[in-house]
Amino acid sequence: MIYLKTPEEIEKLRTANRLVAELLDRLAEHIRPGVTTRALDCLAEEFARQHKVTPTFKGYKGYPACLCTSVNEEIVHGIPSDRELREGDIVSVDFGLTCDGYVGDSARTFAVGRVSQTASKLIEVTREALGLAIEKARSGGYLSDIGHEVQRHAESNGFSVVRDFVGHGVGRRMHEEPQIPNYGRPGRGVRLREGMVLAIEPMINEGTFEVDVLEDGWTAVTRDRKLSAHFEHSIVILSDRTVVLSQA
Ligand code: MF3
Ligand code: CO
Repeated sequence: MIYLKTPEEIEKLRTANRLVAELLDRLAEHIRPGVTTRALDCLAEEFARQHKVTPTFKGYKGYPACLCTSVNEEIVHGIPSDRELREGDIVSVDFGLTCDGYVGDSARTFAVGRVSQTASKLIEVTREALGLAIEKARSGGYLSDIGHEVQRHAESNGFSVVRDFVGHGVGRRMHEEPQIPNYGRPGRGVRLREGMVLAIEPMINEGTFEVDVLEDGWTAVTRDRKLSAHFEHSIVILSDRTVVLSQA
């Protein structure tokens, strides 16, 4: 069942997501060669404490941290550690928090110092795919238009779309219906309507779309160990427009 949100709930989701955006903006200033992914996680934990909000990922199905930090061939769910970021790496940072009972959820991929042309193109195409998909997410449209748009943009740039993870509805819970694949045929399934709040999150790979999950039970990597990028925004569908909640 897809929960349609009231204006009051949308206001709470806006507050939660603005805080997520604020944290990601702050982390951006810390991402440079030599910083550990754990240091980034500590900043997120401190931020949550200061703002009296709950880091939603920590403890979710036993997940051990506030952030997911996925480096290079890691797609999503990379666990913060003592690993130092190096010049030329790309790192996808995903953060979720619960504020007044409502979840904010957003992710961005950052370049660490100077990166290869392929890496920067992958980041750019993934960011663009999210923007284009959000433009398709209009009241009266179809849920599957979102994934179709991501796939079209990724594949027309020579990249592939991860199938094993999807976007989702978001509200009181981090993962609500519907699931939002990043591929598929347009004009199918659920109709988009006012009050839906969706976390759209394309994961785009340089090479194969196939995924392995590492021994830690969390870290998803590309099977060919080529690069992967991930952007996520939480959005709300209104009658006459769609609003991105997870930006400052
Ligand atoms: N933003 C992710 C998602 O939408 C993060 C969940 S990570 C977990 O699914 F650790 F909390 F599982
Ligand atoms: Co999400």
